[in-house]
Amino acid sequence: MSDRLYIFDTTLRDGEQSPGCSMNLEEKLRVAYSLAALGVDIIEAGFPVASPGDFEAVHRIASEIHGPTIAGLARAHPKDIERAAEAVRPAEKARIHTFIATSPIHMEAKLRMSPDEVLEMAVAAVKQARSLVPEVEFSAEDAGRTEMDFLCRIVEATIAAGARIINIPDTVGYMTPQEFGGRIRELRERVPNADQAIFSVHCHNDLGLSVANSLAAVENGARQVECTINGLGERAGNASLEEIVMILRTRSDRYDIETGVDTTKIVPTSKLVSQITGMPVQANKAIVGANAFAHEAGIHQDGVLKHQKTYEIMTPESVGWTTNRMVLGKHSGRAALKSRYEELGVEVDRDALNAVFERFKILADKKKEVFDEDLMSILEHGEEAESERVKLSSLHVASGTKDTPVAAIELEIEGKVHKATSEGDGPVDAAFKAINSLVEPNGKLLLYAVNAITAGTDAQGEVTVRLQDAGRIVNGQGKDTDIVVASAKALIAALNKLPDMHAREVHAQYSGV
Ligand code: KIV
Ligand code: ZN
Repeated sequence: MSDRLYIFDTTLRDGEQSPGCSMNLEEKLRVAYSLAALGVDIIEAGFPVASPGDFEAVHRIASEIHGPTIAGLARAHPKDIERAAEAVRPAEKARIHTFIATSPIHMEAKLRMSPDEVLEMAVAAVKQARSLVPEVEFSAEDAGRTEMDFLCRIVEATIAAGARIINIPDTVGYMTPQEFGGRIRELRERVPNADQAIFSVHCHNDLGLSVANSLAAVENGARQVECTINGLGERAGNASLEEIVMILRTRSDRYDIETGVDTTKIVPTSKLVSQITGMPVQANKAIVGANAFAHEAGIHQDGVLKHQKTYEIMTPESVGWTTNRMVLGKHSGRAALKSRYEELGVEVDRDALNAVFERFKILADKKKEVFDEDLMSILEHGEEAESERVKLSSLHVASGTKDTPVAAIELEIEGKVHKATSEGDGPVDAAFKAINSLVEPNGKLLLYAVNAITAGTDAQGEVTVRLQDAGRIVNGQGKDTDIVVASAKALIAALNKLPDMHAREVHAQYSGV
């Protein structure tokens, strides 16, 4: 019988720590539903002590998501552990993940503690966590650069204190596969009570080795891998879930190890995370990049047409690329829509279905073909609308080869209509200037990216805008069949995330277009 590898997804915790990737409560919930449908074993839902918002997100996910274990992160401090326990309490299966740094540089320069003090805190944290929840994971932060003797001591002590999952993070992505695999083997051989715990790894990608290091650990007995969708995470990111899962599946001749992941949900989940975080997936990214299954060279195309396996080691369908197909049209009813959402792993209750059905009909009228990505996009747009302080009422843009582009906009700001007209270097620039003349602060535009969600000239365009204001970075997405409207929606979505954003006192000019 094949072995089982537990997939611990930390998109909502380490992934969310990527610069510019913070998510609001509704967005985190949507990602959590999609991770549960994907079949991950553990969802690390956040770091409850970090902020009330983080606590609330972990608590809601623990209350609503069925199937996976829900983990909350906690430093080895009593307060952190109490908050994490409170946050994960409603979960069917709850876990506290507590950690402390163990490498000489972290202990001396960051914690200013001796190894004995660190060991004592780790043991106390695990004991406290075990008194509050049935399952405790302990991480030795920066284990990759920790002295092996001390790592063995702290692992043994925390297992004795009740940790049943021991996580060995390569926090700074410093290890090479042979070294890291060797560390896992040595730990399992040298720690006397090693058989009482599952060994886990958490690899960062600073040298591009996170997946290779994770696999080397699996080859040496690790049975939990911590990873993220699209490889999101601090700095260069974490090991990418889709790559690990597909390596194990595609090379089952070498790894007789199974995961619980439904691989056909990988691409929809990747797209959802990319849309929500505003972090585009590079086209040549393995598995989920737009080019991952595209064959350009004539020789390759010829080969694939003759026999798919000539140049494809896995099928696009096996990772969910077929979801980009027409599923519904304007004659489809509510039941078909609900059932398609269920297939995509999204629960839609009656009220939400009524609202989303209205948007579906409007879109189906505008577009000949409605794809899964369109369905996810109209779902998202609707949920965001509830909490918007600024809403787009109307936008009219005139532009052409001989005219200066001009945009006339009407916004509803906290219930009141405000209007402005602006010229710009292009229609998008004119629309942005008109919006910015009505609200403040505007933030500094760090990123403006356009992406077609589906194929064809009637495709919905997806625009991502990233703004920076007073040290805070926010993302906004907008989707529409009109790219200028999508851009305006994206800017407004980002502005809505700036806490101090309000209507400008000085009235902007309005003359229509
Ligand atoms: O990279 C790291 O060490 C972490 C720990 C909290 C597991 O993210
Ligand atoms: Zn990490």
